[in-house]
Amino acid sequence: MNETKGILFDSVLVQELKNQFFMPNEDPRDGERLFFDNSGGSLRLQKAVEVKADLERYPDCPERDHERGLTLKAYVQEGTKELLDIVFNAKSGALMSELTASQCMFQIVDLIMDNVEGTNAVVSVLEHPSAFDAMQFHCKKHGRELRVAQANKETGRIDPDEVARLVDQNTCLVSIMSASNISGSVMDMEGIVKAVRAIKPDIYIISDAVQHAPHMIMDVETLGLDAMNFAPYKFFSVRGCGFAYVSDRVAHMPHHKIIAKDPKVFELGTPAPGNFAAMMAVVDYVCSIGKKFIASENRKELYYEGMKRIHLQERALLHYMLEGTKEIPGLRHIPGVAISADTDSVEGRDLIAGIRIEGMDVIELGEEYQRRGVTTAARAATSIYSKRIVEALGADKGLVRVSPMHCHGTEDIDKFLNITKEIATR
Ligand SMILES: Cc1ncc(COP(=O)(O)O)c(C=O)c1O
Repeated sequence: MNETKGILFDSVLVQELKNQFFMPNEDPRDGERLFFDNSGGSLRLQKAVEVKADLERYPDCPERDHERGLTLKAYVQEGTKELLDIVFNAKSGALMSELTASQCMFQIVDLIMDNVEGTNAVVSVLEHPSAFDAMQFHCKKHGRELRVAQANKETGRIDPDEVARLVDQNTCLVSIMSASNISGSVMDMEGIVKAVRAIKPDIYIISDAVQHAPHMIMDVETLGLDAMNFAPYKFFSVRGCGFAYVSDRVAHMPHHKIIAKDPKVFELGTPAPGNFAAMMAVVDYVCSIGKKFIASENRKELYYEGMKRIHLQERALLHYMLEGTKEIPGLRHIPGVAISADTDSVEGRDLIAGIRIEGMDVIELGEEYQRRGVTTAARAATSIYSKRIVEALGADKGLVRVSPMHCHGTEDIDKFLNITKEIATR
């Protein structure tokens, strides 16, 4: 097993997995296309969408004690348990659900700043606006100084030392994303937590895992985090909700809730059972991949194996996309193509490449791909979502983000590379 360069699924498994998603190869209006913008919203698992639609048909209130009400309530209870125990690996704490991951982030930052003393807070320059602006907004509201950790342009990461440099006894909160949604670089969260807690052992640390969640396991217990969030629509599931783990000490802070409910309850109003059922369908799917590789009946073990295999498949696809073959040159070998934060090793990277083609505007490049049937995401330096981040990575003219997913095969990457070569040599 060569884990450093990843391990590809065989083509039969790729096909089997692809068949479980809606529209992997075509859009009903546009026809055949490669969907390489999974970071903007992943291909949808059919079972997740179907169970959500199925449960939305019932008018029954999940708070009632009749059969249907109890069945609907069970999805919320079971889903909460699975999200905390399996998806986040939380041994304690609570689950927050909102309409989006951004809403979870703003709530959590507000809650911590409202309850924890200190004169400053630390965020990274690479954060998505949802995490960056939550820190900026609440620092202003609570009268704290916002300190911004800069990126290592070579690796696309935030170095633990850089975060530690900004932390002191008066830092109330550190917020660092688990992986960059622009370059795919995975942060050394373990190193960051260690460096920061060496300075202030009880410091609050949170992490935006929206980009990271569909690529590797989330593990709040081992990292000792106070909060972590993700968006189901980027994790094979549905739009319309965001989930977050919060630690016990955050869960016990006075927060918006129905007063008579348990102190750790965050839900306001009736949660949608379909959102929980859809994520349970994702857990089922990941377990089914795990089952191809290990003999176990333990759901958590299977989920962990499934996520590990997804990651190894994606690492192998990333390596393939960068290096290509003798016949089809990879991105590194197509003249004129530049890749952002392209470390030699593909370890510590999610399946994302931020690229440019010399002499070409990134918006134009995105349009060229679309015209040739490849959906990507142009991250222009003028966009409110990307400006700060692409500049921090040294890509002042922006880049095009290419994000396939684990159910793509090498033949999909070949198609993309051929199209890239065609555009670059025009
Ligand atoms: C890293 C990251 N964080 C947060 C978000 C926002 O997620 P949501 O749209 O669910 O609020 C995104 C969306 O692109 C993202 O990439």
